[in-house]
Amino acid sequence: MANVVVVGSQWGDEGKGKIVDWLSERADVVVRFQGGHNAGHTLVVDGNVYKLSLLPSGVVRNKLSIIGNGVVFDPHAFVAEVAKLRGQGVEITPDNLKIAENTALILSLHRELDGFREDAASNSGTKIGTTRRGIGPAYEDKVGRRGIRVMDLADLDTLPAKVDRLLTHHNALRKGLGHEEVEHEAIMQELTSVASEVLPYMDRVWKVLDDSRKAGERILFEGAQGTLLDIDHGTYPFVTSSNTVAGQAAAGSGIGPGALSYVLGITKAYTTRVGEGPFPTEQVNEIGEFLGTRGHEFGVVTGRKRRCGWFDAVLVRQAVAVNGIKGIALTKLDVLDGLDEIRVCTGYMLDGEKIDYLPASQGAQARVQPVYETLEGWKETTAGARSWNDLPAQAVKYVRHIEELIGAPVALLSTSPERDDTILVTDPFQD
Ligand code: IMP
Repeated sequence: MANVVVVGSQWGDEGKGKIVDWLSERADVVVRFQGGHNAGHTLVVDGNVYKLSLLPSGVVRNKLSIIGNGVVFDPHAFVAEVAKLRGQGVEITPDNLKIAENTALILSLHRELDGFREDAASNSGTKIGTTRRGIGPAYEDKVGRRGIRVMDLADLDTLPAKVDRLLTHHNALRKGLGHEEVEHEAIMQELTSVASEVLPYMDRVWKVLDDSRKAGERILFEGAQGTLLDIDHGTYPFVTSSNTVAGQAAAGSGIGPGALSYVLGITKAYTTRVGEGPFPTEQVNEIGEFLGTRGHEFGVVTGRKRRCGWFDAVLVRQAVAVNGIKGIALTKLDVLDGLDEIRVCTGYMLDGEKIDYLPASQGAQARVQPVYETLEGWKETTAGARSWNDLPAQAVKYVRHIEELIGAPVALLSTSPERDDTILVTDPFQD
């Protein structure tokens, strides 16, 4: 039975929410495997809009939804998101939502540290432009082996020593940065006050997934952010703090890589990014404004205006390789409707040489100049198209050309935020 991994093939915000929702109807289990409540997934179901940050999209469709160990988990953000969704009529219980016991927690001191660093870096011009949700500092503590994990909330005898160890590190850091130290009691209170609302959902997720797999159930792995934000493969240091690529679905949930049969790369028909960092095809002009306005390019989590530019086939081709993408879901084609001409980046010039990949170093990434091909646009609308025949010939040409440039076929084409406005070429669960 096929299991599907969904990843973003650009800098996030490719429209994963709708595609994951579309696929989750065909799935039995939906799993988050990295990131935290820095993600923002918008789902439109029967005209109702749901905005999710931490919970897997499957909760909206009452599928078994799992937060895997690769996620960093803010328990207070969790309680707030559950309450908000329940207020919208979504049923959330320990039967349909499970959190891996070995998931690392995000605490208030992580959020504060994220903010302190971004503020200090703003003054020196070196900020990352994070979501300020404590994601990076929480991963640092996890890898530094001083993190507090979900299971620790159930062991109040050993928790105080763990909090002490964490504070030894953080208070030294805070002092050095000129900030107040954190009291042991404050962190204990922060944790114990929320334990009873988190612990009912705690489970041995690797076992739940093993049982599902053996029972032949369909598992959907829901990636957050995008490939160019991956801690190893992205535009470092302007990245998030987790591996966002498809391979992480295995390690971040506790399943073998052989269970990941189809990798679907969600790909926007143009390019956007939020935060700082290189963006070779960025258009700081009326084209960028057009794409941003037409595409409603504002962050779900922070409300920030996204930077916009032409489609960059170099980046997506690289994403196809590092994720093992079998097919893409192309989104927001309709945003390009009405343009006289459309540009596509097919390579870069770097120090006088033509290259066909994104170089790894920060300096080289900042120096690359895009090489464009110009394609004719189309005047008709593609919004709401439900078959290839509904698309203008030039739009089909654009899609076919993208497939050729990136070396992967379009499996799904999304033509509006509505779930039914989707053209299916290949069902990833059947492939
Ligand atoms: P962090 O993940 O909050 O540490 O932020 C690091 C970088 O990742 C920043 O450029 C953020 O804007 C970006 N980022 C984090 N989450 C998302 C997302 O869900 N979509 C797009 N960008 C994101």
